[in-house]
Amino acid sequence: MCGIVGYLGPRDAWSTVLDALHRLEYRGYDSSGIAVLTPGGRLEVHKSAGKVRELTPPGGGPGPKGHLGLGHTRWATHGRPTDANAHPHTDCRGQVAVVHNGIVENYLQLRGRLQAGGHAFTSETDSEVIAHLIEDGLEGGLDFETAFLSMKEHLLGSQAIVAAMEGGGEKTLMAARLGHAGGIVLSYRPEAGHRPGEAHRPGEAAVSSDLAALLPLADSVTFLEDGETAVVRQDGIRFLGRDHREVHKTPQPVPQGTSWAEKGGYRHFMLKEIMEQPQAVAGALRDRVDFQRGEVTLDELPLTDAEARDIGRVVLVGCGTSLYAAMVGRHYMEELAGLNAEVDSASEYRYRRIHVDERTLVVSIGQSGETADTLAAMAAVREKGGRLLTICNAEGSQATRLAEGTLYMRSGPEIGVASTKTFMASLTVLALLAIHLGRVRGALGPVDSRRLLGEMARLPNQLGEILAGREAYGALARRYHRSDDFLYMGRGITHPIALEGALKLKEIGYIHAEGYAAGEMKHGPIALIDPSMPVVAVAPRGRLYGKMANNVKEVKARDGSVIAVVSEGDRELASQVDDVIEIPACHEAFTPMLSVAPLQLLAYHMAVRRGCDVDQPRNLAKSVTVE
Ligand code: M6R
Repeated sequence: MCGIVGYLGPRDAWSTVLDALHRLEYRGYDSSGIAVLTPGGRLEVHKSAGKVRELTPPGGGPGPKGHLGLGHTRWATHGRPTDANAHPHTDCRGQVAVVHNGIVENYLQLRGRLQAGGHAFTSETDSEVIAHLIEDGLEGGLDFETAFLSMKEHLLGSQAIVAAMEGGGEKTLMAARLGHAGGIVLSYRPEAGHRPGEAHRPGEAAVSSDLAALLPLADSVTFLEDGETAVVRQDGIRFLGRDHREVHKTPQPVPQGTSWAEKGGYRHFMLKEIMEQPQAVAGALRDRVDFQRGEVTLDELPLTDAEARDIGRVVLVGCGTSLYAAMVGRHYMEELAGLNAEVDSASEYRYRRIHVDERTLVVSIGQSGETADTLAAMAAVREKGGRLLTICNAEGSQATRLAEGTLYMRSGPEIGVASTKTFMASLTVLALLAIHLGRVRGALGPVDSRRLLGEMARLPNQLGEILAGREAYGALARRYHRSDDFLYMGRGITHPIALEGALKLKEIGYIHAEGYAAGEMKHGPIALIDPSMPVVAVAPRGRLYGKMANNVKEVKARDGSVIAVVSEGDRELASQVDDVIEIPACHEAFTPMLSVAPLQLLAYHMAVRRGCDVDQPRNLAKSVTVE
């Protein structure tokens, strides 16, 4: 899940690549590096452990001059985050520079063979074998392009690669994609920055793992498919298929409105994104709902009404926060659409002997659309003949190209590593999908769907009310931030919210937190209860409220301290617990949306109090593009 970028054109390569790396830092940020082809035809490489802002040439001066460059921001898989393990990696002579995203699964064999052939390695990474394999080809008399193509044949695993070679000849960047884990997107402008009346200016090409990095450089983009290679030169880009024959690819216009988020006055992106959740719900609802008739129109749904009626079951898959959204989605499918629904983590599902057919609708959920496990699960579904829909935030991402149809979250870019507004939008879209399917299949009548949609329309305001009281969570964090263990519990539709609340605390606050189905407490975890371990009970009004209240009593009877998320006006639970968080009264189906916002704010303030790097927590990356 590293970020990779390459540039070839009239601009200064160092600063152009550096700028792109800042945009890519959400993919990994434990080290970074840039290689520039200098006017003398030499590759000058600078790389170091640490964040991109720490990447400066020795002496702190400007970067090397040149018009071809490639760069990388790393999330370590093989080898610790050190200067030596940072990319770009070079061959023995430093004539080839390579940046890589993914895993070379057979690197140990390749490395052994290359070392036996006299190659000297300077890093512990799997990626370095790529540079040496190209070197092998060059030494065997191949030109750069052919040596690169021959290198690809040796690699096992899913990956994306960009490489450059020194020399005074025609400047070339080579890029390739193997498998599903590493996306590659390219852009080309024939006359960069050409103004009327000016003499012809040279073209400008760029390549990256992410569309986001190319935004300032691109009008249109082309994505590589599995096995494809791009030969990038200043006069254009040639595409080669898996068999190395030239293929024609048509560029797509860059999606409109993809502007880069600034923090908007907030201290962290995460807080800004938490505060944007009313808009996230509104954005997901926009143009999709006829409130009068109680109908949902999902133009992007790849199912006719007849096909929707014929669905036998739904399987929802995702990872991390998206998995918890899928768990809420299962309740929606069962309750609102009357469908048999299952949920699975994509990282497990992909390795299962799955049984899907044309009557199985698989819905994958992912904000990035680049999560390797989710993409692999999707690929398996396609192969087995299931119907495949994705709920995604990132336009043009791989998930959107793999699925038959995409229901976009429409949340705008989410920069904080912790997913917040995209979780909210996922839940909103899942509810819309279930209501739509319920109506089409006759499981939901117009009166019920009108009521549900009317309740959904209130969500942005209700969330706004919760968020307006955000300072209260600072006080709560002051009280609890020294606790090193937390238990979160919920039941039914709030069980996934307990899991999500615990995940948020773990990932940004580095606090051990477990999410539990409250009914499971008595089967073991209740033994952990003592005054030093706070329990967060997600207990808004709903069908299982009475059961949840009993579980809270069981914790209190064992001297546990309880923070309870309750519906406004709930005096009963409020009188029994240590701290109360009230959320507006709403239909039970939407308690997940209103309950999760306080838990995000609690985790945020706890992390800030503990001095953690909220937007870029240690060991994590925004898109997990490795298995
Ligand atoms: O992009 P995706 O939604 O597929 O990402 C899945 C997970 O990696 C992601 O939700 C992760 O758990 C977040 N950091 C949670 O905040």
